[in-house]
Amino acid sequence: MTTGRMRVRIMMFAAGILAAAVCLPAFAQGTSAKPPRGVAKKPPAAVTQARQEQAKIYETRGEDVPATYVTDRALLSYGSTLLPDFTRALAELGPADRWLDIGAGQGRAILEYYGERFDAMNPAGREQRGSKAQSVALSIEDRRTAEWHRIAAGLEPGKISYLHGRRLREYTPAELGRFRLASDVYGGFSYTSDLSLFMTRILDLLETGGSFYTLLINVQPETASGRSAQSAAAFQTEILAADGTPVKICAWLRQIGCAEVTCDTDPRSETPIERYRVRKTCDKVSVPALKQLHFAPGTPPARQFRLADRTAH
Ligand SMILES: C[S@@+](CC[C@H](N)C(=O)[O-])C[C@H]1O[C@@H](n2cnc3c(N)ncnc32)[C@H](O)[C@@H]1O
Repeated sequence: MTTGRMRVRIMMFAAGILAAAVCLPAFAQGTSAKPPRGVAKKPPAAVTQARQEQAKIYETRGEDVPATYVTDRALLSYGSTLLPDFTRALAELGPADRWLDIGAGQGRAILEYYGERFDAMNPAGREQRGSKAQSVALSIEDRRTAEWHRIAAGLEPGKISYLHGRRLREYTPAELGRFRLASDVYGGFSYTSDLSLFMTRILDLLETGGSFYTLLINVQPETASGRSAQSAAAFQTEILAADGTPVKICAWLRQIGCAEVTCDTDPRSETPIERYRVRKTCDKVSVPALKQLHFAPGTPPARQFRLADRTAH
């Protein structure tokens, strides 16, 4: 490791330790500091500030939306960004199935699924698709367009819905129901501050045999041997073991109980993008818990987590 890179690494650790220290609950400082029962703990100022800055991005509209905050990806873009079998999985859904798009932005991908172009490009299974699956778009902020309202009004009632105002983890499984397919293109999986809780929620929502397709940008790919040539500071999402050694995202996903995981790196992309499919294989899902060490707001935010010694709930 070069001296420069060592320095960056040390700075990352220092930032992580500082963030961990900042994130320690008040009662960790001594029993006298323990808050009275029933009184909500106030997050440290740095955490509150990071949350507010991230929230501001969701509130942006028109020209204020950062150029890197893309909310109108087409379905074709989903197909070319996620693992290649995503489009086939979508094309195989029938009218009794359900598709959840987490972090849907304007919901353009969902709208295009109901268009004739999708059938023209995916002729196999047209008959069995019938009137197509029911789909649910989830977004923190409401980015629906006039196009959304126009197409939704023309579809059979309840065929599509757009839920906003809450993060995925703020819904109960009963509110959302079960899904055969879930997708997330630079949505909650890239933006959440609690990755293990996010994964637990997704898997709760999937039917057994159902799949979740997503990706992450700037991570250490499964195929990298040891630490990659890229500096640690450049990783957008990083997991560390208790002793500080890096744990690849794919390796963490593979530790999930009742899940079959596929990971691969998009060969066409210059920036390392790792794509994931997580298929739920049984009901007793257990996700290894992660504790947030660092969260820097952004599009997407930079996040560092530490593997905890338990499963997430
Ligand atoms: C960059 S946009 C991506 C939009 C869309 N997938 C696309 O590619 O055009 C991020 C989306 O993720 C949503 N999002 C971020 N964190 C989320 C969470 N925890 N739960 C639900 N939605 C989330 C945002 O509200 C927004 O709709």
